[in-house]
Amino acid sequence: MSDLRVGVVGAGLMGADHVVRIQKRTAGATVSAVIDPDAPRAEAAAQTAAGSATFPSLTAAIEADSMDAVLIATPGQFHLPDLLVALEAKLPVLCEKPLTPEPESAIKVIEAEIAGGAKLIQVGFMRRFDPGYMELRDIVAQQLYGDLLALRCQHRNPSVPEGYTNEMLINDSVVHELDVVRYLTDSPVAAVDIRYLKRNTSNFEHLHEPILAFLETKSGVVADVEMNVSVKFGYQVKTEAVFENGVVEIGRTSGTTVWSEGRYSGTEHMTFKTRFKEAFENELQCWVNAAKNGTIDGPSAWDGYLVAEACKAGVQAIQTGKRVEVNYLPKPDFYE
Ligand SMILES: NC(=O)c1ccc[n+]([C@@H]2O[C@H](COP(=O)([O-])OP(=O)(O)OC[C@H]3O[C@@H](n4cnc5c(N)ncnc54)[C@H](O)[C@@H]3O)[C@@H](O)[C@H]2O)c1
Repeated sequence: MSDLRVGVVGAGLMGADHVVRIQKRTAGATVSAVIDPDAPRAEAAAQTAAGSATFPSLTAAIEADSMDAVLIATPGQFHLPDLLVALEAKLPVLCEKPLTPEPESAIKVIEAEIAGGAKLIQVGFMRRFDPGYMELRDIVAQQLYGDLLALRCQHRNPSVPEGYTNEMLINDSVVHELDVVRYLTDSPVAAVDIRYLKRNTSNFEHLHEPILAFLETKSGVVADVEMNVSVKFGYQVKTEAVFENGVVEIGRTSGTTVWSEGRYSGTEHMTFKTRFKEAFENELQCWVNAAKNGTIDGPSAWDGYLVAEACKAGVQAIQTGKRVEVNYLPKPDFYE
C-alpha cells in the first residue's frame, strides 16, 4: 500500500514537530503539504519533509489534491473551520487537542461528522498512548489492587509565555487530565472544583498559580491535579493511583542517576516533547494505520466534545471559586 500523504496544518511548535515525526518515525506516511499563512514558517517546516509543498490555507491544499489525510496543529480557536473543510472533503483528521475550545463549536463538529456518515476525526489526547497511562488503565480495569479510590496528579511546566492566562490553566493544561481521568476511570468527569494554592510571585502578575483542580468522576473517584506552570526545574507529569490494596505510580523519570561527593542526582524532562515522545509516536502510528482504512484508532470527536464541556465547567470554577457540575448531551448512537 502506498504512503498516506499527510497535510499538516499549522507549522508552529507542535506542527513542525509532527512534520518531523511523520517523516522520520512513522511508517507508511509522508508529509505532502505544510499549510500555514505564515509562509516562512511553512517553508521552514517543509524543509524537513523533502517533496512537500506549502500552502496558505487548507482549502488551497485540498484544491491542489495534495493530501489523503490532515493533521491539524493550529491553536484551538482556529480548529472549527478547518475541521469542517476536512469533513466536507471526507479526509481523515488527526486534530491536536482541544477539538474546539467550547462545547458549542464541538457540537457543530459532531453534527457535521454524523451527517457525513463516517468517523473521520481523531483528537490528539496523546496521553492515552503513553505506556504508563495504558498500563495503569489496565490495572484499574482488572482491579488488580482492588477498587480505585483516588488519583493524585501533578502536571508541572517549567514556565509559560506572558500571553498565558488563568483560563489557559484549564483550557490548555488541565485539559489533558480532563480527558485522561475519564480514560483511566472509564467514567465521565461529573464536577470540577478549584483551589488556589499560595501564589507563585515569581510568575507574571496576571497569573494566579499553582492551582489544585479537583475532578470528580461519576463513579466517585476524585482526582486532584496540581497544575503548576512555573516550576523552573523541568517538565513533570506524574500520577499516583490509590487503590484499596495498594498504590501505583506512573511518570517518575529515572534517567541517569549519578552518585558523587556524598549526594546522588537524576534527570528530569524539560519539555512535553521528550516526556511524551513515545506517546506521540504511538498516537501517530495508530492514526496513520487507521486512516488508511478510513477509520480512527484513538479518542473521537465525541471525546473532544466531552472534554470541551468539562473545560467549560473548569473555567467557571476558576472564575467563580465554586464547584461546578458538568452537563453532557446524551451520547449519539453514532459514537457507541
Ligand atoms: N498534545 C500536546 O501536548 C500539545 C502540546 C503543545 C501544543 N498542542 C496543541 O497544538 C496546537 C498548536 O499549538 P502550538 O503550540 O504549535 O501553536 P503555535 O502558536 O506555536 O503555532 C500555531 C501555528 O498555526 C498557524 N496558523 C494559525 N491559523 C492557521 C490556519 N487557519 N491555517 C494554518 N495555519 C494557521 C500559525 O501561523 C502558527 O504557525 C494547539 O491546538 C495546542 O493545543 C498540543
